[in-house]
Amino acid sequence: MSARPRVLVTGAEGLIGGVVRARLGDAYDLRALTWRPAPFPSHVADIADLEAIRPAFGGVDAVVHMAGTPHVSSSWEDVLRSNIVGTRNVLEAAREAGVERVVLASSNHAVGMYEIEAAPAIYALDDPRVVAEDAPVRPDSDYGVGKVFAEAIGRMYADRFGMRVVCLRIGSVVADDDPTGPSVLATAAWMPWLTDDDRRARLRATWLSQRDCAELIRCSLEADVRFAVAYGVSDNPRRFWSLDGARALDFVPLDRAPA
Ligand SMILES: NC(=O)c1ccc[n+]([C@@H]2O[C@H](COP(=O)([O-])OP(=O)(O)OC[C@H]3O[C@@H](n4cnc5c(N)ncnc54)[C@H](O)[C@@H]3O)[C@@H](O)[C@H]2O)c1
Repeated sequence: MSARPRVLVTGAEGLIGGVVRARLGDAYDLRALTWRPAPFPSHVADIADLEAIRPAFGGVDAVVHMAGTPHVSSSWEDVLRSNIVGTRNVLEAAREAGVERVVLASSNHAVGMYEIEAAPAIYALDDPRVVAEDAPVRPDSDYGVGKVFAEAIGRMYADRFGMRVVCLRIGSVVADDDPTGPSVLATAAWMPWLTDDDRRARLRATWLSQRDCAELIRCSLEADVRFAVAYGVSDNPRRFWSLDGARALDFVPLDRAPA
């Protein structure tokens, strides 16, 4: 990429979009796409509307696609609109505009059943189980199915159209950026059998700090790969998702949840 590449961030008003704007604005000439008017310059459109989003892609070198419904409990209608139709439209608009690179927000929920069938034992510091990048997908929800779709269509755009596509199976990026803070107890609502201590142990294993999240996205924008799937998780004392895929993108996690 040329000096200070132009990078379009979809979902720029969201949590991770905000992390990208706060931390990668020096490295990249960032452009924003948001669903609603934002307090910063932005192309406002629904990603389910291909025609409406097209103008945002002109002249950009790369896309960081974070727009979508982020909840495991999302309705099928929301998944279909924002995560399935929306992700296809983002890739198609990128292809039409000749954009070479797309970093896609996937999720650990593409493989969430490995965790659900093993929780809470899998959170223990001495549990050896790790889900690899190439483990068969096992989505745990309509939301997870939408992320499997994103990875599949990302692969198709890489294979058929020569785009560089990195899919990030993001762990837990939390608003207060604190793996031990009050947000812990609001996590993992889809597993009602977990105790508060289980939820603390889960976030200790799944936390991705905002600093590491930005760095992983930066590495994904720079990587010399045609297609990759990587988990996004900090160097936590217990992890049950592999970091090999992220390390292959030259990602070096700087943060670690306290044991
Ligand atoms: N935060 C996490 O820990 C986490 C974990 C795994 C995956 N992810 C994924 O990362 C991405 C960003 O997550 P986040 O935590 O920042 O969520 P967020 O809800 O804060 O941000 C998502 C943004 O997407 C926008 N959006 C949704 N539907 C849209 C549509 N149809 N058109 C245009 N914009 C739309 C929303 O307005 C919102 O600002 C999501 O795809 C999410 O599934 C996040």
